[in-house]
Amino acid sequence: MKEVKVGLIGLGFMGSTHFRIYKDLPNVSIVALADVDPVKLTGDVSKVIGNIGGGDNSIPLDMTGIATYTDAFEMIANTDADIIDICVPTPFHSQYLLAALKAGKNVFCEKPLCRNLEQLAEIRNAVKAANGRFFNTGMCVRAWPEYDTAKNIIDSGAVGEVKSALFRRLSPSVDGNAWQNWFMNEEMSGGAALDLHLHDTDFVCHMFGRPQAVSSFGVRGVTSDNGIDHIMTAYDFGNGKLITAEGGWCAPGNVPFEMSFQIVCEKATVKLDGAGFHVYWNDGKIETPDTGDASLPTGWHRELKYFTDCVRDNATPDRWQTPDSIFDSLTVVMAEIESATTKKTVEVKYV
Ligand SMILES: NC(=O)c1ccc[n+]([C@@H]2O[C@H](COP(=O)([O-])OP(=O)(O)OC[C@H]3O[C@@H](n4cnc5c(N)ncnc54)[C@H](O)[C@@H]3O)[C@@H](O)[C@H]2O)c1
Repeated sequence: MKEVKVGLIGLGFMGSTHFRIYKDLPNVSIVALADVDPVKLTGDVSKVIGNIGGGDNSIPLDMTGIATYTDAFEMIANTDADIIDICVPTPFHSQYLLAALKAGKNVFCEKPLCRNLEQLAEIRNAVKAANGRFFNTGMCVRAWPEYDTAKNIIDSGAVGEVKSALFRRLSPSVDGNAWQNWFMNEEMSGGAALDLHLHDTDFVCHMFGRPQAVSSFGVRGVTSDNGIDHIMTAYDFGNGKLITAEGGWCAPGNVPFEMSFQIVCEKATVKLDGAGFHVYWNDGKIETPDTGDASLPTGWHRELKYFTDCVRDNATPDRWQTPDSIFDSLTVVMAEIESATTKKTVEVKYV
């Protein structure tokens, strides 16, 4: 079987998570790595901190056979990698993404794809121009076992029509976690609204399509400089259903991470929370759905396995996302930020 070669940019929380996943995937090898921090290039990730999952960062990563660069543009120009995987702070995604596509590489880019709508327009054009090259993003919740299974259950029609849905993502504060504390700098991260809550915005769009308008409330500057640190949104699909999501990183560091949902349907309620993932049927029966391959326990494992398989098989990746669907959900979250800022309902203007 053909070996798929990866060049990774950024070895912080997400880069080190991807690194370990690639190392465990058969017929996938990391051939190049770039990071502005030379310490990371030695495999030392002892200072890396994440808010959910990840690995044991006290154990150095094995860099054997990996060409290392402090200049990622140099890496893109020189590597024979099939895939460039971008795991740097959000404002730096687009520059590497554009360079990698121009160099004829397949690209996997972490979310949020970019920091603003101007960068999004540039990316959209570059992705459309990159014929024959594959592109996926780290919108991992679409591939997350419980979320993916919930969508499949609802799409099957077994539980009837959705009546209301609530999605929630509450992280402990990420103050102090990242390179130059960039999450706390609104200009860089876009606050919890863009960085964290986007996951649920994206899943709402994945599950229900394009909302016409959004009504959001938020609070700024609780933990970050002036970012929206907690946001709540009602999505208007013009069909009378109440679809809401909220996300924030206001809580102190000792508060556990929560990602949860409750989707009330005609015949049953599909729910993920501290009690686990269950379907609660109206007649009282409670089921625990099978979420699939336990050897791929997270959306991160599933999305990277799928993307490397697609590149190996020269098959367009379309299982969980298309570029247009990712551009749409980013447009929706930008409308949410506008709504929370102006305190008005905002109509979403799709391109
Ligand atoms: N999909 C998810 O669940 C998920 C989770 C966390 C973070 N993320 C996203 O992943 C991206 C990275 O976040 P993180 O938590 O790993 O951040 P981090 O601060 O932990 O890591 C960033 C890494 O990039 C390096 N870096 C900074 N500027 C660079 C540049 N110009 N060129 C090359 N390297 C550079 C830093 O030295 C650091 O090693 C962000 O876009 C973030 O939103 C996604």
